[in-house]
Amino acid sequence: MSKNSIFTKVVHAGIDRSEDHGALSVPIYNASVYAFPDADEAAAIHNEIKPGFYYGRVGNPTTDALDQCIAELENAEAGLSFASGMAAISAAVLTNVKAGESLVAPVSGYSTTQTFLKFIESEFGIETIFVDASDATAYANAAKSNTRLFLIESPSNPLLQITDLKAVAEIAKARGIITLADNTFATPFNQRPSEFGIDLIVHSATKYLGGHSDLTAGLLAGRADLIERARQKGGKLFGGNIAPQVAWLVLRGIKTLALRMERHNANAYALANMLAADDKVERVYYPGLAMHQNYAVAVQQMSPGFGGMISFDLGTSERGQKFVNGLKLCALATSLGGVESIVQHSASMTHATLSPEERRAAGIGEGLIRFSVGVEDLEDIRHDILQALDVL
Ligand SMILES: Cc1ncc(COP(=O)(O)O)c(C=O)c1O
Repeated sequence: MSKNSIFTKVVHAGIDRSEDHGALSVPIYNASVYAFPDADEAAAIHNEIKPGFYYGRVGNPTTDALDQCIAELENAEAGLSFASGMAAISAAVLTNVKAGESLVAPVSGYSTTQTFLKFIESEFGIETIFVDASDATAYANAAKSNTRLFLIESPSNPLLQITDLKAVAEIAKARGIITLADNTFATPFNQRPSEFGIDLIVHSATKYLGGHSDLTAGLLAGRADLIERARQKGGKLFGGNIAPQVAWLVLRGIKTLALRMERHNANAYALANMLAADDKVERVYYPGLAMHQNYAVAVQQMSPGFGGMISFDLGTSERGQKFVNGLKLCALATSLGGVESIVQHSASMTHATLSPEERRAAGIGEGLIRFSVGVEDLEDIRHDILQALDVL
C-alpha cells in the first residue's frame, strides 16, 4: 500500500521517529511551562524568533503532533488543534471576518454553528447571509463587497445536504473570499476539501476522529498563513487550545480512522438502502443514495464512501419518539461519530427550541431521526431498527 494511502497515513501521521526515543505513540507532555537555559534563548523562543515551547496555551509537543497529523490527513499546509469543534469554528470565523464585514453560510447546518453566527451578528456586527448551500451559485449571488468568508458544511448536520466544494472554491477565489469547510461528517477518509481548492477545513474531532465518544476536541487545517493567523489570534487570545492528554486520545483514535470509516460507510450504505425501501419511512437523507438531490456532486467529491450518517423522517414527532424509545441496541444520545450506533430525534432534542414553523422552514421534519451508524455487526443494527419500526 502506498505511503500516500489514507490507510497508511492515519497510522503514521504526526509521528516523528527521530524524536522521543523513537516512540511510536507520541508521549503526553504534561507541561504548561518550559524553562530556558539563558536570557538569549528566553528572548528568542518567547518572542517566537526561534521555534520552541514556552507556555501551554501557545504550544505543546503533543498537541503539535496532532496539528501536524491533521495537516497530513487533509493534504493541507498546516494544522491547529482546539478544545472543541466550536472553539475551532469560532477561531476560524473571528480571525477572518471583522465587524462591518459579512460571511455566507448554509441555512441548514449544525445548530450551534447557526446560533454562533446569529450571536456574532447581533453582538459584534458580523453579518451572516444564509443561503441554500445545495446550490453553489447561491454563494455567488449572496456575496457582497464586504464578504470575507464562505462557510460550507458538507455533508451537513442533520440533513446531509451536499455543497459542491470545487464550484464554491472557484467562486470564492475569483472574489478573494476565504473558504472554510466543515468536514466533520465526511472525515478525511471520505473527503479532502483542500483537493477542491478549499482554504480551511474544520472538524469536530469529538466525532469520528476521536471516534470513541470519550473526548471533546476540534481541528483546523489549511493554508499556512490562515492557520498562523488562527494560532496567533484564535489560539493565543481566545485560549481555546486543546489539552495534551486529549490531543493524545485524538491521535490514538485517528490511527484506526480508516478501519472504522470503512465499516461506518458500508453499514450506513446498506441501512440507507433498507430504510429507503421501507414503507414506514417517509424520506431518507443519505448522499450515497441515487435519489439524493446532489448525488452526482457527492460521487464527485466523496470517495471511497459517503460516511456513517443517515437521517430519515418518520412523519410525526410521536412516531419519531416511539421509534427511539423502541431501540434496544442503538443509544439515544446527542452526539455522533463514535463506534456505537447513536440516534436522536431532532424535533425534541437539537431543534426543540425552534417552533414547528421554524423547524419546517429549516427543513427539519417533526419525525426526523439522525442516525449515526456504528461499527457493530450490520445484522444486529438492522434487527434493532426493524424491531423499533415494527411498533409504529
Ligand atoms: C458538523 C459539526 N460541526 C461542528 C460541531 C461542533 O463540535 P464540538 O461539539 O466538538 O464543539 C458539531 C457537533 O455536533 C458538528 O456536528
